[in-house]
Amino acid sequence: MTRKQVHLAAHFPGVNNTTVWTDPRSGSQIDFSSFTHLARTAERGKLDFFFLAEGLRLRELKGRIHDLDVVGRPEALTVLSALAAVTDRLGLAGTVNATFNEPYELARRLSTLDHLSGGRAAWNVVTTSDAFTGENFRRGGYLDRADRYERAAEFVRLSRELWDSWQPDAVVADRAAGRFVRDGAIGTVEHQGRHFSVDGRFTLPRSPQGRPVIIQAGDSAEGREFAAAHADVIFTGHGRLEDGQRFYADVKSRLARHGREPHQLKIMPGVTFALGDTDEEAAENAAGIRRKQVGPQTAIAFLEQVWGRDMSAYDPDGPLPDLDPDLSEGVSQGRVAIKNRAAVAAKWRALAEEKGLTIRELVIEVTGRQTFVGTPETVARLIDEHVQADAADGFILVPHLTPGGLDDFVDRVVPLLQERGVFRTDYTGHTLRDHLELA
Ligand SMILES: Cc1cc2nc3c(=O)[nH]c(=O)nc-3n(C[C@H](O)[C@H](O)[C@H](O)COP(=O)(O)O)c2cc1C
Repeated sequence: MTRKQVHLAAHFPGVNNTTVWTDPRSGSQIDFSSFTHLARTAERGKLDFFFLAEGLRLRELKGRIHDLDVVGRPEALTVLSALAAVTDRLGLAGTVNATFNEPYELARRLSTLDHLSGGRAAWNVVTTSDAFTGENFRRGGYLDRADRYERAAEFVRLSRELWDSWQPDAVVADRAAGRFVRDGAIGTVEHQGRHFSVDGRFTLPRSPQGRPVIIQAGDSAEGREFAAAHADVIFTGHGRLEDGQRFYADVKSRLARHGREPHQLKIMPGVTFALGDTDEEAAENAAGIRRKQVGPQTAIAFLEQVWGRDMSAYDPDGPLPDLDPDLSEGVSQGRVAIKNRAAVAAKWRALAEEKGLTIRELVIEVTGRQTFVGTPETVARLIDEHVQADAADGFILVPHLTPGGLDDFVDRVVPLLQERGVFRTDYTGHTLRDHLELA
């Protein structure tokens, strides 16, 4: 049997708990040079695409801004358009919300990126999980989850109608006959739906990919069903072997209901990595990164998210205070809410007591850790094994440093994946759909 090919993407670090801004090697989250460094590194490594997340409001706890967030997340499609000019083959994926935008406008921007980049655009469709972000939009209006995904589905369907409304050979530019566009080649779109109404023609010819690659991130049943119906790629947090296998089987099994085949949806968990010359050294590096990721303030912020109280007076290097969580609503804003905080607090307390952990040590222990830790050989083997075992079709790599966090991976791990015969040694196509083996 032929081995599955691994797909890889590069996540630009930013407002998330993975990013270490305190490291002397950390650069700006805004300067174009940071974006170009990471994108060019990804392209040197022949990665499938470069990925930008989106955050539409600074996170807060009871009115206090999380000043540990690496503040600054420029608008994705603008950055990607600039990157299109300094890269040649790399896919360019931007997260853009479907709850707060309008299809006609966003379809135009995405089509423009696909034109500018010669067929390398991707749209990560997110819906937002919190009303707090919604306060920046639609006069505070916010939709519940079922409505958000219904709106997102109508958004994508309508965008596709717009993208498809020009026939592929619409532009003839026939100087002799004095005809620019073939008669009848630009269709009208008449859409009256629950969320949108569009009545007219699209302003752009069909783009190189026809439509951008659609990515979905979001884990609810509604989110998975949306992905099965509409997405080409899922960005998920299920990066560990058995958990990944369960997620993979679940999502792929949903495709048939939508008349689709398993290979038409690629599953790419977001993963972190730590390398070393020996597995022991890599483990030490991983522990060092974790200590930097969970600095004193971050440790307290995590605690506050579960306890729902201002805990800033407590020493992060001291013991967990003897305090019950405040279970009233809406303490931590702009983050995905933690379910069942009372049970989580009890579990954390038991663990801290059992192992004698300080607040910071506890948070390091209970929050996400590096997915792949080891020598380049170990990491290449693990990545290959996860893909062959149907835990994933590939991974979105989330480095902890901007902009150099991918350098070592590209120089040391990618060649080993190539030697194993599971990763391209050069791009064979021009569009992102080509890289992802999508029709
Ligand atoms: C791996 C992953 C990455 C995500 N990245 C973003 C992001 O950058 N911006 C954003 O607004 N939402 C992001 N989300 C949130 C979801 O896309 C989704 O909008 C929200 O969680 C509600 O969906 P759900 O209820 O199906 O989980 C991400 C979710 C996941 C699982």
